[in-house]
Amino acid sequence: MQGVQNYIQENKDRFLEELLDLLRIPSVSADPKYKADVRKMAEATAEHLKKAGADQVEVFDTPGHPIVYGEKMVNPKAPTVLVYGHYDVQPADPLELWESPPFEPVVKKTALHPQGAIFARGACDDKGQMFMHVKAFEAMMKENYLPCNIKFMIEGEEEVGSKHLEEFCKANKKKLACDVVLVSDTSIINNDTPSLTVGLRGLCYMEVEVTGPNRDLHSGVYGGAVANPINVLCDLISSLHDKKRRITVEGFYDDIEKVSSKERKLMNQVPFSEKEFKKDLGVEELLGESGYTPIEHTGIRPTLDVNGMWGGYIGEGAKTVLPSKAYAKISMRLVPNQDPEKIEKLFIKHFQKIAPKYVQVKVTAHHGGHPVVTPTNSPEYKAAEKAMEKAFGKKPVPQRGGGSIPIIAMFDQVLKAKSILMGFGLDSDAIHSPNEHYGLFNYYKGISTIPYFYQYYAESLK
Ligand code: BES
Ligand code: MN
Ligand code: MN
Repeated sequence: MQGVQNYIQENKDRFLEELLDLLRIPSVSADPKYKADVRKMAEATAEHLKKAGADQVEVFDTPGHPIVYGEKMVNPKAPTVLVYGHYDVQPADPLELWESPPFEPVVKKTALHPQGAIFARGACDDKGQMFMHVKAFEAMMKENYLPCNIKFMIEGEEEVGSKHLEEFCKANKKKLACDVVLVSDTSIINNDTPSLTVGLRGLCYMEVEVTGPNRDLHSGVYGGAVANPINVLCDLISSLHDKKRRITVEGFYDDIEKVSSKERKLMNQVPFSEKEFKKDLGVEELLGESGYTPIEHTGIRPTLDVNGMWGGYIGEGAKTVLPSKAYAKISMRLVPNQDPEKIEKLFIKHFQKIAPKYVQVKVTAHHGGHPVVTPTNSPEYKAAEKAMEKAFGKKPVPQRGGGSIPIIAMFDQVLKAKSILMGFGLDSDAIHSPNEHYGLFNYYKGISTIPYFYQYYAESLK
């Protein structure tokens, strides 16, 4: 193992340069304009796997973006770890808010990253974190230290709902057979406080269209007598929360698993400064469901948020118009045991019910995903815990994450394997936002932690 760690130290600079090259490929999965770049990124990932020493490396085409696979089977008696990650990234918009271009990575120091951070779209989510696994694998291969069988499955559609990965997993159950799935696509509390993510929220994503009059109207000639669909949509949306910031969709909370007061107490012991949190976000006050702390708001409580809203005139200057239509994209983050399909039905029913006669509403669903909680008493959790403790000198804190990786629940169902969510980003790394970055400390710490996981995991199953 010392050899592996030395190899990582000796090759640090190259590991960084290689990541910077990958970050130059704009693999935006949501925008068809980047389809060729997404493929280029898949090929580059496959090439790296091959060079690191993986066998059976292949870029699998799907009706969407390709899936990259590679493996190293060393011993049929050793446990098999499936590494999952994604090489696609979110769109970089709004471009004007980036301090340096999103696909021209630069390393800069920040208050939280005094050793420097890589600024680029995908630096943290998830190219930087995915690539840590490739580099840790390379180090282990070069030093001839591979205590587990390793399979890689890196997809290009995570940011658009992993549409084709389920089918791929179902069709390749044997190929993907594993004892555990290892994922680095989440965050730690801060660089002095390692944590392991033990829960992710689910997702239910809806779009609503409200139609008023059959055409856009002059807001003076008709205004006052006819319902304005944007005004109506605003009323409808504001009625979706009550005074206590609880969601008013009937039946919304019915299936939620009660979290014990002991667990809630524990959860609130993690280092968290409300003052710092507000300062970082530039807000005077927080707003969340009454009776819960901010940690609980993002960890164990569901949400309903408008992600975008449009209609009427939004161009330069002013146009007096009473629009015919108004739209909103609304997402709900779900917690155990809320079922995204059931919530979708409840939302549609509720929205139809509250819609007044003077408009028509159409509600449609986008992708969704189930929430997950992972056990903390399993051999794989213990191995991840030990690995982080070894690398950080501190035992990681189990923490529920507020984000979603919808495909994790599917791994459980289809591959019958639990996941270990061992991410190394910081919540403040601005993933999905302008100026996304990933700390060099985090990148290198991740690379050196991963081999320990394989070591302890193999040892624990001997
Ligand atoms: N890596 C994130 C999820 C994440 C980030 C989990 C930080 C925990 C901490 C992932 O790439 C992501 O952005 N997921 C989407 C869902 C997807 C269906 C677009 C999300 O959470 O919005
Ligand atoms: Mn991600
Ligand atoms: Mn993401």
